[in-house]
Amino acid sequence: MPAPIGVFDSGYGGLTVLRSLVDRLPGYDYLYLGDNARAPYGTRSFDTVYRYTLQCVKWLLAQGCPLIILACNTASAKALRTIQQNDLAALSPTARVLGVIRPTSEVIGTHSTSNSIAILATNGTVQSGSYVIEIEKFFPHLRVVQEACPMWVPLIENGEHQKEGADFFVRQHVNNVLKAEPTVDTLLLACTHYPLLRDKIEACLPPHVKVIAQGDIVADSLEDYLQRHPEIEARIGRNGLRTFHTTDAPSDFDTKATMFFGEAVSSKHVDLQ
Ligand code: DGL
Repeated sequence: MPAPIGVFDSGYGGLTVLRSLVDRLPGYDYLYLGDNARAPYGTRSFDTVYRYTLQCVKWLLAQGCPLIILACNTASAKALRTIQQNDLAALSPTARVLGVIRPTSEVIGTHSTSNSIAILATNGTVQSGSYVIEIEKFFPHLRVVQEACPMWVPLIENGEHQKEGADFFVRQHVNNVLKAEPTVDTLLLACTHYPLLRDKIEACLPPHVKVIAQGDIVADSLEDYLQRHPEIEARIGRNGLRTFHTTDAPSDFDTKATMFFGEAVSSKHVDLQ
């Protein structure tokens, strides 16, 4: 039976990635799960992020998803490898779980002419060192500076990101990056929430510094993956359906989700306890 592509995030941020996937590959069915009841993940330990993410992956597998994308950098950094290497074979050996760090690392170096980039992310993603490790494999000469921006997710989740108060926290982190590495010409938004701050980030930057969000990169990578894996592609539903689930209250989710996804969203509750 054909089933949707599962797209997982700790909360709302993965909707910015889903937007790009749907725009690029609109014919497929997608099932989104946001673990809003337990977000944010960015401040949590490896063990906690792994346990929460595994629970969500199990639920998506139970819905029949043949392919799951962890559209959350923190979950990709802290849980993906263990799930791929230790859990998936026992849970569903023919299903696949992919993350967002590897596809981003494969191409990010092509955006820089100064060979110097910055990764803006949650504390969890920065502390994992995952981007530095992955980028080194593809672009060993690239200088990579990391900056954790712990206030940005709460600002966005509380609807403060377009207000004046957000300017202080955006400028603070952008200035930290430019001070640490003045030759940086590419800023990667390595947290799925951060595209909502894009205008404010760009306003703090000299014009030659580019801001890169992950949506299009993940969409390119999914398109390529499905071409290379016809056995997975054949199992995905093709009715252009999008369904949304949240571990918290659907009414709250629907209101904010619209801001991230750019169109009206109607979700259902999932109880993972
Ligand atoms: N969506 C997460 C990410 O991309 C950030 C939000 C959170 O901390 O839960 O890293």
